[in-house]
Amino acid sequence: MKFIVGNWKMNGNMENKEALLKSLKNLRTNNKVILCLPFTLLYGNNYGTIIGAQDISEHDNGAYTGDISGQMLKDADVKYVIVGHSERRANHNETNAIVKAKATAAIKNGIIPIICIGENATEKNSGRTMSVIKKMLLESVPAKGEYIIAYEPRWAIGSGKTPTNEEIATAFETIMKALHGIKRENVALLYGGSVNAKNAAQIASIKNVDGLLVGGASLKSDTFLPIIKSID
Ligand code: PGA
Repeated sequence: MKFIVGNWKMNGNMENKEALLKSLKNLRTNNKVILCLPFTLLYGNNYGTIIGAQDISEHDNGAYTGDISGQMLKDADVKYVIVGHSERRANHNETNAIVKAKATAAIKNGIIPIICIGENATEKNSGRTMSVIKKMLLESVPAKGEYIIAYEPRWAIGSGKTPTNEEIATAFETIMKALHGIKRENVALLYGGSVNAKNAAQIASIKNVDGLLVGGASLKSDTFLPIIKSID
């Protein structure tokens, strides 16, 4: 069983959601499929698919206009939430400390955070990938609770580029070492960034990769279902 997590980002409407979830309902798979939708699409008939959100407030409630709390997500039957996606780190100035607070808020509400880390192109080109992801990991991950780590190199997101198998394997080894003390069975590690039906099975077979985080290719059944099937 591998995790296949779709991240719709700021895309899609009710009609698109219905169409994809209906096709997922008829799919027989051993994988655990989770669809992380925009807030407006969380409620409603989800046809049995596990639903996730893309952000969570670090606060419980109160004067935080526009934010959505863990209690609200729980009320919408959300089981997972992406935190610290590179687009939120870049566009909303989310620091490792904020990401950690958000992950902690999720855990407090019984929601499993999918904590994203990953180096940018400049960091990669200057040979700092491992030190960057290690620092992000140590500063973004709460001390206790169940969570998932998604390694998403920023330069690979939406670019059609992916790291080599060796680079992914080394990154995941670094992650496991940095999480020392954590039992392997208590943490799932995902790769994300330009995953498609052609590369999914190969990436998912790399040591320590427990699943994939899929952006653009998760929007439609004709690109998402072949990814899920290719890993069965
Ligand atoms: P992508 O996005 O699959 O479109 O590269 C992945 C992500 O940002 O989670």
